[in-house]
Amino acid sequence: MSHESSPLPLTSSAGAPLTGTIKVPGDKSISHRSLMFGALAVGRTTVKGLLESEDVLATAEAMRAVGAVINKQADGTYTIDGIGLGSLLEPESVIDFGNAGTGVRLTMGILGSHNIAATFVGDASLSKRPMGRVLNPLRDMGTNVIARDGDRLPASIKGPEQALPITYRVPMPSAQVKSAVLLAGLNAPGVTTVIEPIATRDHTEKMLKGFGADISVSLNEAGERVIKLTGQPELEPQDIEVPSDPSSAAFPIVAALITPGSDVTIESVLLNEHRTGLITTLIEMGGKIEILNRRETGGEELGDIHVKASHLKGITVPASRAPSMIDEYPVLAIAAAFAEGDTFMPGLDELRVKESDRLAAVARGLEANGIPCVETEDTLTVTGGANNIGGGTVTTHLDHRIAMSFLVLGMAAHKPVTVDDGAVIQTSFPTFTSLFEKMGAKISANSSEAA
Ligand code: S3P
Repeated sequence: MSHESSPLPLTSSAGAPLTGTIKVPGDKSISHRSLMFGALAVGRTTVKGLLESEDVLATAEAMRAVGAVINKQADGTYTIDGIGLGSLLEPESVIDFGNAGTGVRLTMGILGSHNIAATFVGDASLSKRPMGRVLNPLRDMGTNVIARDGDRLPASIKGPEQALPITYRVPMPSAQVKSAVLLAGLNAPGVTTVIEPIATRDHTEKMLKGFGADISVSLNEAGERVIKLTGQPELEPQDIEVPSDPSSAAFPIVAALITPGSDVTIESVLLNEHRTGLITTLIEMGGKIEILNRRETGGEELGDIHVKASHLKGITVPASRAPSMIDEYPVLAIAAAFAEGDTFMPGLDELRVKESDRLAAVARGLEANGIPCVETEDTLTVTGGANNIGGGTVTTHLDHRIAMSFLVLGMAAHKPVTVDDGAVIQTSFPTFTSLFEKMGAKISANSSEAA
């Protein structure tokens, strides 16, 4: 699942206002976890609305490799016949996670406390990303690890005969690290404790509870989240409906705000409080965004998001908000390019270790399109309102969110914007181009025609 051999340049250009009611695909975080927890339960889990993107399909393959039977039914529902915690089979060959950081890190957690060997590989982007943040707590639990220098992929692990439950304070705000430790704790006897000084998305905790695990969350005196999980539960299969991904909804939301005359509704979007930082920020910037039809399904809040083109103003985004919008900074930078004045975004150090160094990739992309910005080690300032923006070609570095963000820029810029590789969008949002075309956007696979 590598895009390195077949890049697909795409160009977007300004056209009519964006209009209509759309639905973006299922949430990526919940889709990965549905497949994983279904594989660990005994019996049949069903999943409606699974995100069928390359990242999530790589997780399905990995769960098949350890013995789960996963099928798509005629009505689109996925069934997962789980093999049960503690009974996972040793994979017969290397597990290729392509571009998927969540997939590989959470699967390392699951397999790391099982007494089986597994080897993980990924594409050029995933092979640069730090895995020590997950491998180190696994080492503490007794897992043997052999990894490339700097704890990068390829990496091989073999879990001990019996893993040790640990108490682990997560050193960086990362739901993947928190989740990997909890998932390893599932197959360790006794109580695994994760202390989370800064709260991150809580899908693992909520969904494990739904599958019947004994898991509790409390706050300690310092206000840190303390998550306690009792190992070796019998997980019960579930029927899951995956809500639409707020991180994918971010693209039509920003595109509608910055494209004059636009009026768009995005239906049934997940509104988990750890995922909605972008919406809060855009409303503070003056964005006309209303949440309609708020409701609850499967323990998560959902709503329809109605967005109209708006006059935006630059603001300072509190650093404390970063975990609730960590994947949305690239597209926020595009909104900031159309806002009056400066938008200052501090607390961005984690952006350096995403699918690309997103801070640098965004800054270079803005510069290539004539948008003034200042990048420091962990901050970005974007000055909005420049004249004659666009016309550049953006290097995506195998990063889907860089590709999609700069295509959104081209929809409202004075000149078309080209991204060097749109193929990587398949990792999270396969219907991106068709959905945007349905709303009236102009995206072309042939840059010379569009320009
Ligand atoms: C995710 C956690 C975040 C996020 C990623 C999905 C998850 O990563 O960026 O897209 O599903 O747990 P980090 O844990 O590295 O912050």
